[in-house]
Parts: sequence; C-alpha cells; structure tokens
Amino acid sequence: MILDGKACSEQRLEILRDEIDESGLSPHLATVIVGSDPASQMYVRMKHRACERVHIGSVGIELTADATTEKVIASVRQLNEDPEIDGILVQLPLPRQVETGRVIKAVRPDKDVDGYHPVNLGLLFSATPRFAPCTPRGIMTLLAANRIPVAGKHAVILGRSVDVGRPMAALLLNADATVTVCHSKTRNLADVTRQADILVSSVGKAHFVTAGMVKKGAVVIDVGINQLNGKLVGDVDFAAVSSIASAITPVPGGVGPMTIATLMENTFQAAKERACGSVW
Ligand code: GUN
Repeated sequence: MILDGKACSEQRLEILRDEIDESGLSPHLATVIVGSDPASQMYVRMKHRACERVHIGSVGIELTADATTEKVIASVRQLNEDPEIDGILVQLPLPRQVETGRVIKAVRPDKDVDGYHPVNLGLLFSATPRFAPCTPRGIMTLLAANRIPVAGKHAVILGRSVDVGRPMAALLLNADATVTVCHSKTRNLADVTRQADILVSSVGKAHFVTAGMVKKGAVVIDVGINQLNGKLVGDVDFAAVSSIASAITPVPGGVGPMTIATLMENTFQAAKERACGSVW
C-alpha cells in the first residue's frame, strides 16, 4: 500500500476549510523567513498557499540574510503582541549568525504552531500535548487515516532531531508503541531497523534505507527530502523497499503534504484556544 499523503492532506484541508468557515473565526498565521534560500522560500510559499485554501489569513515577514538574532527576536516579539496573529512560524534553518534556540524560545508558546518551543515539547513529552511539531503529528494522522495500528508495535526512528525524531518518539510512545530512536552513533543499525514494525526515517541521506534493513510487512515512513541526480528522493530506496513493506510513503507526495496540512490544523487550534481564553 502506498500511503498517499497528498490525497490525505487534500481531504484534511477541505474539512478544515469548512470547520474554519463554520467557526466564525478568522485565524491568521505569520511566517518569518530570514535570507533568500530558494528551498525555504518555496516551503513558505506553499504554506501561504495552503492558508489561502483553508481561509486562514497570512502575513509574511522577510528579513535579510545578515539579520542579527536580536532583529529576528524583535520581529517575533511584535507578532507575539499582535492580537490579529494566532500562529507564528519561523522558517528553519536560520542563517549561521542567528541563534536558533533563542529565536524559538522567543515565540509565545500559545502561538507556537510549529511546536518547537521547549514548553510545547515538554508538554508533548509529559503526554499532555498542546502543539506537536507538524511533521511527526502529520505522520500520526497519516497512519490513523490508513487504519494502521500503532499500539504495541515496535517503532524504530532514524534520526534524533528536535523537529522530527524526538517528537516522533513522544507521539508514538503516547500512542502506546514501543519506541527505539537510532542515530549516527547507533551500533549494528540494520539489526535494529529489521526489528521495526514501523520504521520512520529522518536522516537526510538519499537511499540510506535499503531493502536489507527492513522486515517483511513493515510500515515505512520516509521523511527525507534529498536530491539525487537532479531528482527529488527520500531516505528510502523506494523501488527495493516497496516490495518488502506492507505500506510505504512516496517522496514526493507522502509526508511533505501532511506537514503543511498539520500546520493549518495547528493554526486553527491556536485561534480556537485564544478565542476561548485557554489558560497556558
Ligand atoms: N524547515 C523545514 N521544515 C520546517 C517546518 O516544518 N517548520 C519550520 N519552521 N521550518 C522548517
């Protein structure tokens, strides 16, 4: 089975648009982009386009590549104070001179629709999530939409990043999976990955996951976006692994669209919670 993230996200966006229209709310997302990295600009454009589709208003703040940490934080603080803005997304990665951790901590947790603020990550790891990061939450949605059970399964995650690997572990653990997180220092990696009922790869290396690393019937989720000979490919050798896996996400059209749909859902959640004066 191919896990069609594009189709799933389209469905979710349609439902969300109707929910937003019926709510009488006017949610707004602000994006902050620093510099002119073409990939980041494309991602931010896609996010604004998704906003339009679901009737979320959006504003884009663009700062030059030489912006200081203080300047980025000043923009974030302005958005924190802006009553029109429900969600704030600072596009990553930031230029080298900008202290990413300080910028993330400057975002008000109740507007942190990326779910990267330590308060939101702490809530997620305490099994009381408010905003979970969009990529791992989108993966949970895709699994649920395809009726793939998680409870009691052994989930193996490749990559321990703060935006994907770690929150993915927390979400799967909260859903009663047994979770193993692998990283660059993991020994005998293939022995571990072959135990996975659900294998999530977020490594950022083309064709890193080969057929020999996957158990027959496993569910394989590919978070990677890599260029290989001018083509967009994931971390997984799709041609070889798809004949072994019971379900697999394609790249493109798998996890990516789910990330954007989840950002829209998080933004509407932020608007609803602010509208009813939720206490943080
Ligand atoms: N860069 C790549 N993906 C993301 C994302 O989901 N959020 C942010 N803020 N930056 C990203």
